[in-house]
Amino acid sequence: MNILITGGAGYIGSHTCIALLGAGHKVIVADNFYNSAIETIDKIQEVTNKKIIIYKNDITNYFELESIFNENPIDGVIHFAGYKAVDESIKRPLDYYYNNVLSTINIAKICTKYNVKKIVFSSSATVYGNNMPPFVEKMKLQPSINPYGETKVMSERILMDMVNANFTFKVSILRYFNPVGAHESGLIGENPNGKPNNLMPYITQVAKGKLEKLRVFGNDYPTIDGTGVRDYIHVMDLAEGHVAALNNIKQGTNIYNLGTGKGTSVLELVNAFEEANNVKIPYEITSRRPGDIAQAYADPSKANKELKWEAKRDLLSMCRDAWRFEKNNKTL
Ligand SMILES: NC(=O)c1ccc[n+]([C@@H]2O[C@H](COP(=O)([O-])OP(=O)(O)OC[C@H]3O[C@@H](n4cnc5c(N)ncnc54)[C@H](O)[C@@H]3O)[C@@H](O)[C@H]2O)c1
Repeated sequence: MNILITGGAGYIGSHTCIALLGAGHKVIVADNFYNSAIETIDKIQEVTNKKIIIYKNDITNYFELESIFNENPIDGVIHFAGYKAVDESIKRPLDYYYNNVLSTINIAKICTKYNVKKIVFSSSATVYGNNMPPFVEKMKLQPSINPYGETKVMSERILMDMVNANFTFKVSILRYFNPVGAHESGLIGENPNGKPNNLMPYITQVAKGKLEKLRVFGNDYPTIDGTGVRDYIHVMDLAEGHVAALNNIKQGTNIYNLGTGKGTSVLELVNAFEEANNVKIPYEITSRRPGDIAQAYADPSKANKELKWEAKRDLLSMCRDAWRFEKNNKTL
């Protein structure tokens, strides 16, 4: 299939390009490089020895998006493009609503116009809010606790309503848990512009000496050691989840959790990183971060069964692969 990947130069998108090219699909990437680098595209091509068609386009601009559909046959879209930092979304809510919601509306409109029936959307475990984990897809979504989560709830709703108006569409909404790690080549990985918002790139930058110490946001949560618990999933497992989602896409809207089902605390992740890579990660405990919840982990059984997919890589591989990428990463 010819797959348009919005945000394909980003962290999850770039790994998904590798998985899709490996599975024999053709890939067209549209990215404005707000949070990624054009060099990533060269690296994907180097790893896979396959060509990608690349557009430096902003998905909030409908006409830029339309040029891609005019110039290429498209069989399906994986829509990654968006902003993703919870704490930033609290400070800049309008930017988040504008970018994340408008880009989804444009994807829904263009797919309707060009009769592209297959859409895979990047949602987030954030939509579960303060529900009790393990999170299951049919849980009632609580009023979300941050604007980022709201943009995902709204985007899901927009896609569901699009399907309600035309049931021939096939939409898979994937709710990701916490992707970490990197492709085993060490050539691509998580390379955020500016200071990292996510835990693993923060840890790797501390290990490299670029940041002095890790800040752990709160150790008074009701968890195993008081630090926040998340479901870390190797980014290549997540990438393979997208290939499985496309291969098994069904009519209507279907929602799947992509996670491992296992919760790991911040300090457990720090310990695993130290053990896997034989490096020390100095850290300090600071106050809780607005918008964070105590624990979040998936019940991934629906994706395991219906997509015939499960996360295979363990925490130590996630830590080893993340560190290999950081050591190789000349842009830092
Ligand atoms: N990384 C996570 O922890 C996580 C967890 C759950 C969900 N998600 C979602 O998955 C998707 C991908 O996340 P990621 O970690 O790869 O993020 P990322 O920031 O690395 O990648 C997003 C990409 O989209 C591009 N982009 C943003 N706005 C754009 C626009 N208007 N037009 C064109 N390109 C645009 C960015 O330049 C970037 O390359 C996002 O929608 C994110 O909300 C991520």
